[in-house]
Amino acid sequence: SGPPLVVLSVVNSTNTYLKEHEQLHVKGAACLAEAQTSGRGRQGRPWISPFGASLYLSMYWRFEGGYQMLGGLSLAVGVAIATALEESGVQGLSLKWPNDVYLHGKKLGGILVEVEGQINDTSHCIMGIGINVELPESQQSRIDQPWADLASQMNEKPDRNKLSGKLLTSLYNALEKFEQTGLKAFLEPWSRLHLHQGKRVRMICGPNNFEGECLGINAEGALLISLPGGTKAFYGGEVSVRAL
Ligand code: BTN
Repeated sequence: SGPPLVVLSVVNSTNTYLKEHEQLHVKGAACLAEAQTSGRGRQGRPWISPFGASLYLSMYWRFEGGYQMLGGLSLAVGVAIATALEESGVQGLSLKWPNDVYLHGKKLGGILVEVEGQINDTSHCIMGIGINVELPESQQSRIDQPWADLASQMNEKPDRNKLSGKLLTSLYNALEKFEQTGLKAFLEPWSRLHLHQGKRVRMICGPNNFEGECLGINAEGALLISLPGGTKAFYGGEVSVRAL
């Protein structure tokens, strides 16, 4: 028997559910739901989560060694998702730093990594993933950016059960690898999938804007931008990147 798997019809948020159930604080434990009433996105934004339209899943993992080793975790998760989708026959995928999944240049899904209280250098992490499968028309106008779903790009409607299985396996394997070797094993596949590699971009950090060529990521997962004054590394947090 593997780690626990909880499949729910409706939940507030699969991330919150894992967080609040201590018996699920086992490496690889996962929660999936058909719909979320308070789905959460990055930077405090809501994640619209209607019934059956998307995959909503979260996985728990525990890392020893403190926060320092978690840099780039969400990039590794992005690679795991893209790999599972590619194996399922999806073409045209890319990753936008730090952790959006794109399909033909539009957002297909997102990743919300939450790190909980560190005790004795142990970090409790919850990796939440939302992937658009077939968004109903009634919801489309509620999304504030260009988006994609799998159904409109594939010949047949994707099997959500199979896809969930593939995503969970890929995620589990990636987290195990990340635990052993950190970001190293993910740098090459991440760069290969990188949406903005070599492109001109604008970095938005609060009131500050920087424009330059996007050189890719460094070993810690920071995004490197070539600016007139030299190369600047941007670490996660409240930073967003736009193509020019
Ligand atoms: C983003 O802002 O791009 C990240 C979106 C993450 C959404 C997923 S859906 C499953 C899990 N539960 C949540 O409440 N959020 C994540």
